[in-house]
Amino acid sequence: MLDSAAKTFFHLLAQSGTLKKLASRYGMRKPTSFARRFIAGESVDEAIAAGRAVQARGLTLTLDYLGESVHSLGEADAATRDYLSAVQAIIASGIERNISLKLTQLGLDVDKASAVDNLRKILGLAEPAGFFVRIDMEGSPYTAVTLEIFETLWQQGYRQMGVVLQSALHRSEQDLERIIALGGRVRLVKGAYKEPKTIAYQKKADVDAAYARMLARLLAAGHYPAIATHDPAMIALARQYAADHQIATDAFEFQMLYGIRRDLQNALVRDGYRVRLYIPFGREWFPYFMRRLGERPANVAFVLRGITADKG
Ligand code: FDA
Repeated sequence: MLDSAAKTFFHLLAQSGTLKKLASRYGMRKPTSFARRFIAGESVDEAIAAGRAVQARGLTLTLDYLGESVHSLGEADAATRDYLSAVQAIIASGIERNISLKLTQLGLDVDKASAVDNLRKILGLAEPAGFFVRIDMEGSPYTAVTLEIFETLWQQGYRQMGVVLQSALHRSEQDLERIIALGGRVRLVKGAYKEPKTIAYQKKADVDAAYARMLARLLAAGHYPAIATHDPAMIALARQYAADHQIATDAFEFQMLYGIRRDLQNALVRDGYRVRLYIPFGREWFPYFMRRLGERPANVAFVLRGITADKG
């Protein structure tokens, strides 16, 4: 993972409009097609079905209606309406009430105030219905503004929501102290975006070392932290820290992505840990899919095999 060249390559691909159109046309057409490994489907009904299957395995879930970087207020409003109808569908389905979203999906690139209004609309429906809403963390141009919006809404009394911090960024250990002081819930990740060396660790060993420091700090002081990783070394560290400090297994949770390390998910559940699966769905799956490929070049071989098989 975090092979810098692979991350840059897939980051560039993720921004290609032509590829995105092609992929949207062909990638999800058949249930066996290549993107299905990581994305539950295009519709909320497919996501809910995937959620039911996940719950039947003893895991919990968060549903992510894929989308990001919208370029007009009209698109941001449409994404907000999509989220509101997904929230209604989740309520009607009876599955666990937990969603993840991105602020650029709600219009952050167009107008910050409108994005915050859109987030308030979603929280206004979701919070009273018992949802937990996680604001995903995007690339570093959005770090400060995402934390600022989170803190503002927190001060206004919205408490059923949490943020994400990326151990790859130099600033994150300080940000962690801010969020701990606030009492906010943190999902700790390594970071999926290609970031410059002036602000981010480039070597896996450095990203991992920061992750290890942050997970210890979170387990000691955090408010129901989420240790989001598929890295067995990080998971082992969290388990060890919790055991050494008598931290109960229900005082934190592990989180993993749909389609990745199912074996590890099951093993943790068997050992009595809480594991939440991040289940993405929707038509706008291409940038998410590209980030998953960038994390692990072996996935490209998997995709190529899938494309070849689809043709045959
Ligand atoms: P690492 O990359 O070291 O991988 C460890 C092992 O996990 C690999 O050896 C492999 O076995 C497996 N693995 C990891 N990625 C894989 C892949 N794509 N395909 C197949 N196997 C893979 N990032 C972000 O910037 N903002 C966010 O909001 C989030 N949100 C988020 C939620 C959840 C629930 C998770 C699990 C992750 C995120 N991420 C994220 C992504 C995160 O930053 C990171 O890019 C990935 O989790 C990969 O890093 P790992 O910690 O898994 O370790």
